[in-house]
Amino acid sequence: MTDLTDALPLPVPSPEFLERLATRRSAPAQALTAPGPSEAELDQILQLGARTPDHGKLFPWRFVVLGPQTRAQIAEKLAVLAELRDKPAKNQAVLAKLTAAPVTLLVVSAPVPASKPVWEQELSAGAVCMNLEHAAGGFGYSASWITDWYSYDPHAAALFGVQEGERIAGFIHIGTLAEPPLERPRPEMSAKVTRLP
Ligand SMILES: Cc1cc2nc3c(=O)[nH]c(=O)nc-3n(C[C@H](O)[C@H](O)[C@H](O)COP(=O)(O)O)c2cc1C
Repeated sequence: MTDLTDALPLPVPSPEFLERLATRRSAPAQALTAPGPSEAELDQILQLGARTPDHGKLFPWRFVVLGPQTRAQIAEKLAVLAELRDKPAKNQAVLAKLTAAPVTLLVVSAPVPASKPVWEQELSAGAVCMNLEHAAGGFGYSASWITDWYSYDPHAAALFGVQEGERIAGFIHIGTLAEPPLERPRPEMSAKVTRLP
């Protein structure tokens, strides 16, 4: 690990990095298959994900590594909860996204009360999710960031160990796609960018 007194490298132009950003695309979670990251790769992916800006050095998030066995067990319990909701069939169907990938990282937003604004702490958790996707891509894996109904249902979220005051920022499913993904619509930049002198 870099010592706190060490200087870090300044950015240098990297066409490869820019090309990655220009072509990065999420995977459909249910299409992710083996191989997934090894334990050593996962350690690095997590470390890179945690290397994310946050106001106040609070690190207001935590990770749960969800192996296939745990996800299958939780999905069985979620299937029961899905039946109690509106549109049970739809709520059941999306559970396939939870169990497909070789590796799933749960990012839990865990704001520190009475510190920096909670909004900023939650933004940091979102940035962690994106960094995890980039790190997974750096190892040659595809990833999918999803939430689905069980992130917002308190009984469902509790099955993943989410505590009072915490929220699910996302499930980052990681694995390999058999087919390259198709592009999706991207914003018309002129409608999104305001330039001021
Ligand atoms: C916070 C968040 C939650 C999401 N939740 C879901 C979800 O529950 N189900 C789903 O199908 N897609 C969900 N998505 C969308 C997928 O991640 C989607 O594949 C992605 O936005 C595609 O964009 P990309 O091609 O730029 O990666 C979510 C995205 C974000 C940022």
